[in-house]
Amino acid sequence: MALYTVLVVLSLLPLLEAQNPEQANITIGEPITNETLSWLSDKWFFIGAAFRKLEYSQAIQTMQTEFFYLTTDLINDTIELRESLTISDQCVYNSTHLGFQRENGTFSKYEGGVETFADLIVLKKHGAIMLAFDLKDEKKRGLSLYAKKPDITPELREVFQKAVKDVGMDESEIIFVDWKKDKCGQQEKTQLELEKETKKDP
Ligand SMILES: *[C@@H]1O[C@H](CO)[C@@H](O)[C@H](O)[C@H]1NC(C)=O
Ligand SMILES: *[C@@H]1O[C@H](CO)[C@@H](O)[C@H](O)[C@H]1NC(C)=O
Ligand SMILES: *[C@@H]1O[C@H](CO)[C@@H](O)[C@H](O)[C@H]1NC(C)=O
Ligand SMILES: *[C@@H]1O[C@H](CO)[C@@H](O)[C@H](O)[C@H]1NC(C)=O
Ligand SMILES: *[C@@H]1O[C@H](CO)[C@@H](O)[C@H](O)[C@H]1NC(C)=O
Repeated sequence: MALYTVLVVLSLLPLLEAQNPEQANITIGEPITNETLSWLSDKWFFIGAAFRKLEYSQAIQTMQTEFFYLTTDLINDTIELRESLTISDQCVYNSTHLGFQRENGTFSKYEGGVETFADLIVLKKHGAIMLAFDLKDEKKRGLSLYAKKPDITPELREVFQKAVKDVGMDESEIIFVDWKKDKCGQQEKTQLELEKETKKDP
């Protein structure tokens, strides 16, 4: 989830520094480069999140799995998001456009006439990204993790757990996705095979 319910964000860097002088790994507000945008254009798996905002924490409890494709448009500075969610053992598709702000590294989304923001945190080494939501608000803050592979490495798990603590939440607030519950992957595979077959036939 999360990407489709993106929200208000802050520049948390001062906050993080104040709370955790030794923590230097979560950097928010880094500009987004073309190189990063090309790297973002890929298939992503939702790995887990810690959300205090009620509507988000409820959404991730209803949602079993989510993977999505991002297609970045470097001319118009938009990102197409095509998601496949498993909800109540059913696969649901959705697509939308997100905005991004290169200069301060935020994603944004218009929903119901309101533009909301999330900070993008790039973990290239781990093939992963995090989105940070409302970190300055103790009651609404959230951090979500997405990776290019559904299985999380122990290192990435540790990085995420540490990040959650660094932004002032508890490890126990993290919900990890159970990919055994996914209903969309097989469906997508079948679909791709069908498309291949169709292309083969003149
Ligand atoms: C990031 O930049 C956009 C566009 O200039 C602005 O609307 C938004 O408020 C900025 N966000 C932060 C957290 O500075
Ligand atoms: C990023 O890519 C766009 C589209 O190709 C191009 O117009 C722009 O100059 C690039 N920016 C940089 C900093 O390379
Ligand atoms: C950018 O937006 C314009 C106007 O909406 C559209 O015509 C154009 O196709 C878009 N560019 C890309 C690369 O999608
Ligand atoms: C699909 O996307 C729209 C627009 O972002 C959103 O309002 C709606 O709740 C989404 N549906 C699901 C099932 O995620
Ligand atoms: C933080 O960064 C330092 C230096 O790059 C690295 O040694 C350390 O392992 C990182 N910590 C985490 C939790 O990623």
